[in-house]
Amino acid sequence: MYCFVNGLKLEVTKATLNINDLAILRGYGIFDFFRTVDNKPLFLEDHLDRFYNSSKIAHLPISFSKSEVIEQVNSLLTANKLPISGIRMVLTGGYSEDGYSVGKPNLIITQGPITFPAEELYTNGVKLITHNFLRELPEVKTVNYMTGIWLKSKIKEEKAFDALYVNNGQVLELTRSNIFIITKEGKIITPQKNILKGVTRKKVLEMAASHYDIEEREISIDELLQAKEAFLTGTTKKVLPITAVDNQKIGDGKPGPISRQLLEMFNQFEKEYMDK
Ligand SMILES: Cc1ncc(COP(=O)(O)O)c(C=O)c1O
Repeated sequence: MYCFVNGLKLEVTKATLNINDLAILRGYGIFDFFRTVDNKPLFLEDHLDRFYNSSKIAHLPISFSKSEVIEQVNSLLTANKLPISGIRMVLTGGYSEDGYSVGKPNLIITQGPITFPAEELYTNGVKLITHNFLRELPEVKTVNYMTGIWLKSKIKEEKAFDALYVNNGQVLELTRSNIFIITKEGKIITPQKNILKGVTRKKVLEMAASHYDIEEREISIDELLQAKEAFLTGTTKKVLPITAVDNQKIGDGKPGPISRQLLEMFNQFEKEYMDK
């Protein structure tokens, strides 16, 4: 497998970074991650926009233009021959002289296999646990997943699929996905603030706009527990129904018709995008 480090194509086993990179010393860096389908990137423009936006907010300049990054991505697609994959663009804090100041950011692009949730999770829905937490710089896709990774053992113990971050009684997002609820009146609502604006979230909002009433606003934990349906969205999860939160059923405890319809619409949307 090949990767890119600062514009150079290298075999992954030969790629190195210095140990004084701020990403290693302080967890300071940003990234983005997208899928490829039939060897073509999915929603690459949106992921690049978010990557460059994260870099700006994090004060980490990228020394390559978007078209240069696209060239590097295309070069990996040709070299690695992995038509269904995930591509990760990481921008580190760079080599730090004093272990705290930002250096010249290093850009790494890697490609690897991806897995989707098992079919039965789409059929039965997933269970979440809640955790009080607000991500630092929530609108930035930082490399720091300390809390999410630390929660993995508790998630396993509770036989849950993932954790939902809640702050001051407001539902925010999952460790690596966004959340939507559907009210008894059939309105689709998703949090607007203090979250990473997922690309899948954006596409679902666009798709759903012509069929449903949509609101982007705060959602309280009580509102989630009273919802008729709930689902999560993410690059490798698409639209996945949520059927329980902290052992309380959502709706009748089964995936609802609107969540199912949105997954079908998303698959169709993805297909049309790839055929363009
Ligand atoms: C914290 C967080 N929220 C939401 C998402 C979903 O974003 P996307 O739909 O772009 O994958 C992710 C993706 O990794 C994430 O890490």
